[in-house]
Amino acid sequence: MSKTEFDFDEVIDRRDTAAVKWDKYVGRDVIPMWVADMDFRSAPAIIEALKQRVDHGVFGYTDPSQELNDAIVAALERDHGWKIRHEWLMWLPGLVSGINLVCRAIGEDGDDVVTAIPVYHPFLSGPVHQRRTVTRVPMRLQGTQWVWDLERLETAITPRTKLLLLCNPHNPVGRVFTREELSDIARIAEKHDLVISSDEIHCGLALDADKPHVPIATLNNDIAVRTVTLMAASKTFNLPGLGCAFAVVPNAELRVRLTRAAAGILPRVNAMGFVATLAAYRDSRQWQTALVDYLRVNRDLVRARIGEISELSIAPIEATYLAWIRVDAPIPDPVSFFETAGIGLYDGRVFGTEGHVRLNFGCPRSVLEQGLDRIRRAMGARQSS
Ligand SMILES: Cc1ncc(COP(=O)(O)O)c(C=O)c1O
Repeated sequence: MSKTEFDFDEVIDRRDTAAVKWDKYVGRDVIPMWVADMDFRSAPAIIEALKQRVDHGVFGYTDPSQELNDAIVAALERDHGWKIRHEWLMWLPGLVSGINLVCRAIGEDGDDVVTAIPVYHPFLSGPVHQRRTVTRVPMRLQGTQWVWDLERLETAITPRTKLLLLCNPHNPVGRVFTREELSDIARIAEKHDLVISSDEIHCGLALDADKPHVPIATLNNDIAVRTVTLMAASKTFNLPGLGCAFAVVPNAELRVRLTRAAAGILPRVNAMGFVATLAAYRDSRQWQTALVDYLRVNRDLVRARIGEISELSIAPIEATYLAWIRVDAPIPDPVSFFETAGIGLYDGRVFGTEGHVRLNFGCPRSVLEQGLDRIRRAMGARQSS
């Protein structure tokens, strides 16, 4: 299938599918642009592979196949120049389970986990669920770009800090951290002997060819052996409902700790998740390229339109389909303000930072335009009232 044959403009009705994103506003004229899944149909090769598996009709307990492990090894080398070994792979029923698992496996009860905010909320709840404390280091704006505040990171680390949670590409600020930035973070992790948990679920969604994703574990071997990299096909190929993710863990001792921490708690991955993940990494590269091209245009539209509104501001978005928008107006509850205007956004407080909303632009352009119009009208009406 040629690139142009993928139709990201098609508006697909997701009502009556119990979709978390859409059911939140059932019966209301609110366009849901909050939780992170896309309104596009997944890649044709994935849908076809799932159909074939359904036709087989037997859905017993399933292991990851050799073919699947080979596909991951090949894709990480193809996409990121990262040569991994089969035995480094650990399969997970979801990436959030992976975050919790790492928190559980590293350190003791009461030890500390450090991360930078704003950040995907399970980074803040995961440590607490696993009886750790969490230290939040606010990111800072350098020019227009969100960066880790390394000085504050250094001072936040205590002898009880055992784990650093990195999100790269970053949800919600959309950064693809550069090799230099990653080296700085890694140096601090090394100095304080921290394990790094690097959530790279958005790595297939780097939007600009000149800002490629660099897995932190590829910096050097010392960093690789202290890093658990968490990945999944779910964001890039729109499969989050199929529950399948994996960790890349080069350090054998860490693998043992993670396996012990998972015992009796984590279920096997479901058979459909494996099928979809194989078809994603092995057979859906063209679709991915076309998707990223489409999202890049959506990204540019969001930046241009939000940039025209005086009381909203937005930093460059290098990856993901998520826009982190600062609300400079004195609106006490931005989410209900925008819901009243017919657009459902995510509250910045969920990510640990007030005064912001997150907008999901992983949808057909016509829907995005409608949403952006509603934001413009709501902000315009506010100013003129
Ligand atoms: C950074 C990040 N990690 C993990 C997830 C979710 O992973 P899963 O659905 O596999 O638990 C998301 C979903 O938005 C995310 O943005």
